[in-house]
Amino acid sequence: MLSSLFDPVQQLSQLYNTVQSAGAALNKLFSILDAVPEVDEHPAAIELPETGELKVTGVLFAYDASPVPALDGVSITVGVGEKLALVGPTGAGKSTLAKLMARLYDPAAGTVEFGDVNLKMATMGSLRSRIVVVPQEGFLFNGTIRDNLRIARADATDAEIESGIAAIGATEHFAQFSDGLDTQVRERGSRLSAGERQLVALARAALVDPAVLILDEATSNLDPGTEAEVEHALERLMTGRTVIVVAHRLSTVQRADRIAVVADTRIAELGTHSELLALNGHYAQLANAWAQSHSITS
Ligand SMILES: Nc1ncnc2c1ncn2[C@@H]1O[C@H](COP(=O)(O)OP(=O)(O)O)[C@@H](O)[C@H]1O
Ligand SMILES: [Mg+2]
Repeated sequence: MLSSLFDPVQQLSQLYNTVQSAGAALNKLFSILDAVPEVDEHPAAIELPETGELKVTGVLFAYDASPVPALDGVSITVGVGEKLALVGPTGAGKSTLAKLMARLYDPAAGTVEFGDVNLKMATMGSLRSRIVVVPQEGFLFNGTIRDNLRIARADATDAEIESGIAAIGATEHFAQFSDGLDTQVRERGSRLSAGERQLVALARAALVDPAVLILDEATSNLDPGTEAEVEHALERLMTGRTVIVVAHRLSTVQRADRIAVVADTRIAELGTHSELLALNGHYAQLANAWAQSHSITS
């Protein structure tokens, strides 16, 4: 009697769990699809140079489904080795600008250049090895940790994979796993923390060794256990590279050389932390809000 009463409830709650995890999987799928480039290699494409400025000029961009542009009249040059933070309200266009800088999309008008080469004229191989996007959430594919790094560079030797992990200071962390880098992430999958997935994503980027790193900082805090390790890994990965980071944390903004405030499809303000504070505009308002909440919204 009791069990027949509780069974349907239990079934319902199981169904609810299933629906929930299907929802999570779908979100993940969409976020991957979102990162799939909708661009082709030009038949006369050339190799990007080893290094150079990243230059955005008069960019206009609208998503297919949208009648209004996500970016309109955006120009900015990021110097070699410069750290630029993008800040601003949700929906302003920060992530879109970051994606255009890696040619995940092409602008409808205007250009994005690296080392004076229009990204539309770059070979996909040189583009993906010069400019790397680290997504908000480290995503793992079925296979070992090693396989998950090799996705970034199919020809990487074991030694290169190990030095990618060493480059971000995560050697010891993965050595703790009983199978080390041969640990199956799927079996272990649910036990890999968000921070550990992020370490895999950062090691992938280190393996590619790009000139430009594009980061979309996670809005939520990582597990305290790995947060410091991820911070440290990021610090090491950013050293010596040009970095564009969509920033949600005050500490990230404070480490940047310059800050661009993206507001309503444009760059509204551009300068150092103190220059922008002195403007007493958007940035000053944001900085005030962070000072009160110790975090940044979107
Ligand atoms: N894949 C997409 N398809 C259609 N519209 C999008 C897509 N991604 C973002 N947008 C829209 O483009 C605008 C800019 O978004 P986004 O660059 O993500 O802003 P931010 O990163 O500053 O929050 C918003 O209006 C957003 O709704
Ligand atoms: Mg965004």
